[in-house]
Amino acid sequence: METIDLSTYSRTVFFTGAGMSAESGVPTYRGKSGIWKDYDFETYACQKAFDSNPEKVLHFHKIRRRAVLDCHPHEGHRLIAGMPGTFVITQNIDGMHQRAGSQGVIELHGSLWRLRCDNCRMVKEDYNQEYESLKCDCGNWLRPDIIWFGDMLDAGVMHKVTEIIASCDIFISIGTSGRVWPAAGFPSLARDSGAYCIEINPEPSGATEYHRIIQGEAGKVLPELFITH
Ligand code: OAD
Repeated sequence: METIDLSTYSRTVFFTGAGMSAESGVPTYRGKSGIWKDYDFETYACQKAFDSNPEKVLHFHKIRRRAVLDCHPHEGHRLIAGMPGTFVITQNIDGMHQRAGSQGVIELHGSLWRLRCDNCRMVKEDYNQEYESLKCDCGNWLRPDIIWFGDMLDAGVMHKVTEIIASCDIFISIGTSGRVWPAAGFPSLARDSGAYCIEINPEPSGATEYHRIIQGEAGKVLPELFITH
């Protein structure tokens, strides 16, 4: 495989989707064993569903927390974590990059490990299989701090991400189908800003912005792709 020396670039962005965690055992959202095949997002992953049946939605996310904690970061996560000075922007809510040691990970779609109260605006970390509590001290149901279908992305996060991508000179997209906006627009933002754009995916997304497409699995491709100093 033609290798890449990241020290020849000044600003590297790793942009990851569910496929990044697939080899860890976390199911992706789409495709043959994707989560949305078994769980209708309108019942489990939108504000309307939470408003009508918070316990059901919380239970679904509890199952996901348990499943994720049974999985572990792989070689690809560790390789990214071992590249200080690079940016990690992820659509994943599983915290796998952080478990591998990545610092400053930007979570575009929130986190399975954070809950918030939309009544009193409290936000808390809750990193465990079980929830510490389903309700806030104010009596309101706690809501997973996740961007569900129909939610707006946090404006501050979007601003930061846009600034980072627009000023990177290499953009490496790993394991995303590119079906969800605004994330689907990031490769073109990177390319239009002059970055060299790479996609790593066993079933490439079909996006035309990439200069190089590497058809393969993240955990196998990443350790072979980079020259480490
Ligand atoms: P998808 O499930 O849409 O796509 C996963 C991608 O990973 C597909 O393109 C697969 O081909 C690829 N893939 C599978 N195994 C891989 C591997 N071992 N290495 C590399 N790639 C692999 O997941 P996302 O694109 O992340 O949002 O989905 C985007 C958003 O849609 C998610 O963040 C989630 C979902 O609804 C929310 O929950 C808000």
